[in-house]
Amino acid sequence: MSDAPTDNRFTRPIRSFVKREGKLTTGQQNAIDDLWSTQGVDLGSEQLDLDKLFGRSAQVVLEIGFGNGLSLADMAEAHPETNFFGIEVHRPGVGSCLVQAKKRKLTNIRVSGDDAVLVLNQQIPDESLDRIQIFFPDPWHKKRHYKRRLIQPDFVNNLVKKLKTGGQIHVATDWQHYAEHVLAVLTTNADLENSVADAPKASHFLSEEGEVLKSSEMWAEEFKPAQSSRPPEGSQTAEGYEPTDSPLLSRGAAEKPAYRPHTKYEARGIRLGHGVWDLVFDRTA
Ligand SMILES: C[S@@+](CC[C@H](N)C(=O)[O-])C[C@H]1O[C@@H](n2cnc3c(N)ncnc32)[C@H](O)[C@@H]1O
Repeated sequence: MSDAPTDNRFTRPIRSFVKREGKLTTGQQNAIDDLWSTQGVDLGSEQLDLDKLFGRSAQVVLEIGFGNGLSLADMAEAHPETNFFGIEVHRPGVGSCLVQAKKRKLTNIRVSGDDAVLVLNQQIPDESLDRIQIFFPDPWHKKRHYKRRLIQPDFVNNLVKKLKTGGQIHVATDWQHYAEHVLAVLTTNADLENSVADAPKASHFLSEEGEVLKSSEMWAEEFKPAQSSRPPEGSQTAEGYEPTDSPLLSRGAAEKPAYRPHTKYEARGIRLGHGVWDLVFDRTA
C-alpha cells in the first residue's frame, strides 16, 4: 500500500496530480530508450546510494514536478558541479527532460517518473539533500481541492528529514493564496527558518491551540491589507486574477534566487497577470 495520505470516504490516496498519459513524441521515446538505463530511476523499496547513482560525490538538488524539464536541464547545464535529481509523474515531461539531457550531454541529471511522495518515503535517504525545489506546483485553487496541494505539514516534515542541516527548501508559485499557505506551512515547521530576515514568525500563522490558521484567518492585525484589496478565499478560480496587496508575502517571500530559471508555468502565470513568489527556507535543526 502507498504511504500517501488517504481520503477515508474513498480509502484511496489523495494525490497531488491527475495522471494524464499524453502521447510521447518519437524523440522523447528515443531519449527514454537511450538514457533510462543510465539516467532513469525505477521506483523501488530500497534507499538509493546517491553517490553511486551519480557516479560521484557532489551536492544534490532534488526537483519535484519538473514539468517539461527545460529549467532542470538549464540548471544542470549551468551547474555541472552539482547533481540534479528530478521527479515528474507526467511521462512526456520525463521524455522531454531526457531529450534535453541527451542533446546537451548532461551527465549530472537523474530522473524518476513516479509520485514524489513514494520516491521520498522509499528511496531518498535522510539528510542526503542540499536543496529541494518545487517550482509552480499545481495550485488546486478550488477550496474542495486544497487537500490535494503537495505542500502540507506532513509532507514538509518528510522533506525536512531528507535535507542536510543547512540545506534549503525553495518553493515558487504564482498563486497568491497558495503562496500564503506555503509560507504558513514552512514558517510553522520548527526545523525551518525563513531565509528572509525579519520575516513573519510562526505565531502569525497559529491559533491559540497551535493549529495552522486558514489563509482567511491568518491576517494578524499587523499584516492586514486594505479590506478592499483582499480577494475572498477560494475566489482565484478563474484563469486570471488580480494579485492583491499581501503584507505577509511582501515580508516573507525572498528575491528570486539567481539559480532559478524562468519556467513554463511561471510564464503562463505572468501572462495571466499573476504575481510570482519565491519562498526559501533553511533547515536549521
Ligand atoms: C504546474 S506544473 C509545473 C511544472 C514546472 N515546474 C514549471 O514550473 O513549468 C506541476 C507539475 O508537478 C507534477 N507533479 C504534481 N504532483 C507530483 C508528484 N506527487 N510527484 C511528481 N510530480 C508531480 C505535475 O505532473 C506537473 O507536471
